[in-house]
Amino acid sequence: MTALSPAVPVPAHIPPEAVYDFDMRHDPALLANPHERVRELLRDAPPVFWTPRNGGRWIVIGHPELFQASRDTETFSSGLMPRAQLAAMMAMMPKDLPRIPQATPITMDPPEHGKFRGPLQKTFSPRAAMNQIDDIRALADELIDKVIDQGHCDFISAIAEPLPVTVFLKMMGLPPERLAEFRVLVHEFLENTTTDNMVAAASMSRKVADAMLGEILARKDDPRDDIISLLWATEIDGAPMTLELMEDYCVLLFIAGLDTVINGMGFGIRHLAMNPDLQDKLRARPELIVEAAEELLRRYSFTIPMRRVAQDTKLGGFDLKEGETLALYIPGADLDPREFTEPEQFELDRENKVHVAFGVGPHRCLGAHLARVELQVLYQQMLKRLPPFRLDPDAEATFHSGNIIAFDTLPLRWD
Ligand code: HEM
Repeated sequence: MTALSPAVPVPAHIPPEAVYDFDMRHDPALLANPHERVRELLRDAPPVFWTPRNGGRWIVIGHPELFQASRDTETFSSGLMPRAQLAAMMAMMPKDLPRIPQATPITMDPPEHGKFRGPLQKTFSPRAAMNQIDDIRALADELIDKVIDQGHCDFISAIAEPLPVTVFLKMMGLPPERLAEFRVLVHEFLENTTTDNMVAAASMSRKVADAMLGEILARKDDPRDDIISLLWATEIDGAPMTLELMEDYCVLLFIAGLDTVINGMGFGIRHLAMNPDLQDKLRARPELIVEAAEELLRRYSFTIPMRRVAQDTKLGGFDLKEGETLALYIPGADLDPREFTEPEQFELDRENKVHVAFGVGPHRCLGAHLARVELQVLYQQMLKRLPPFRLDPDAEATFHSGNIIAFDTLPLRWD
């Protein structure tokens, strides 16, 4: 079992009733059965609480509080270090150090954020996502074909990982032969998001940018039908695109588009594997899969965006001080009984279907259309092609947690 991160002293302005001891990376109950532990948090901890773990931070699990904090970008900044401080730090670095890409625009606040989100918005339209549907279906079938006769697989390594990574390579105009290399990179990246080591995270961003640098440079003068070419052709406030910004966008798309879909698929398929009746129902009525995919995103939300408190404020009745860190714990918000009736139930016809799995406010997920297409097509093909599947009774699913609650493995069986 991984050791908990050391507890830091509670600052004087934080009252005892605000403190709840929860290590969002290593909590053993979270890693054993993630969303059960999240429900326990909702029962036992206040909607906004402070934990002495992970360096000491606020965690927002309540739905209205998360909504409020996500939209108030003046108070809750996405720049985890103030821009001026970051610029001063960069200026002090030796000039021959490699440049560290900044995932853009996810680390920016409005109004700057909007300016840099614009170019990406065009490339992630619902139509752009639908255009990929046939390729995604063919790919899902190909991956299912590889395991169908063996009666079992680790769903994560056999299907959930290669599918979005292949979609990503194609979308970015990277050759499909680089699948194995990018899968290794996804793993390495993941390992670095489960530590609090800033240096490791920075060098990882450089490594991800380097993996795409050749294609980024090549597409500048030889545009093709891919996102890298499209981004080169955009202007920001009338200024032409730069190589630095291209790196920043590409690093963001790698961070945002891979690990997320992998685990969305994992949680969805795990629920289906535990619920044979639901599998039967969706096999009989595949038109319900679109709704089911949405309810699975709510029931098992798994991303945890971070914010920096940019000015003293109050949230959930407690005083938060400038410079403190805050985790927007979306898995909690989507299971908050104050927002969803019987939130633990998977309910296809629930009244309130508006989940926050894709975030709230100006940073709301740009890849949501694409993610939905990937999830829906995967569920359709798994249910159509495979006989009823179940969790492997001899091998449990294993998890790790950082800014995403993520699977290591999800062993499945079928007859
Ligand atoms: C089930 C899959 C996914 C989930 C649950 C998800 C969730 C999220 C969340 C919660 C945010 C907001 C982060 C914040 O507030 O700081 C976000 C932002 C973002 N996502 Fe996704 N995402 C998914 C898939 C994707 C895919 C496939 C892509 C693209 C390839 C993508 C691209 C982005 C981008 C570019 C942003 C940043 C938007 C901004 O800062 O304005 N996401 N995502």
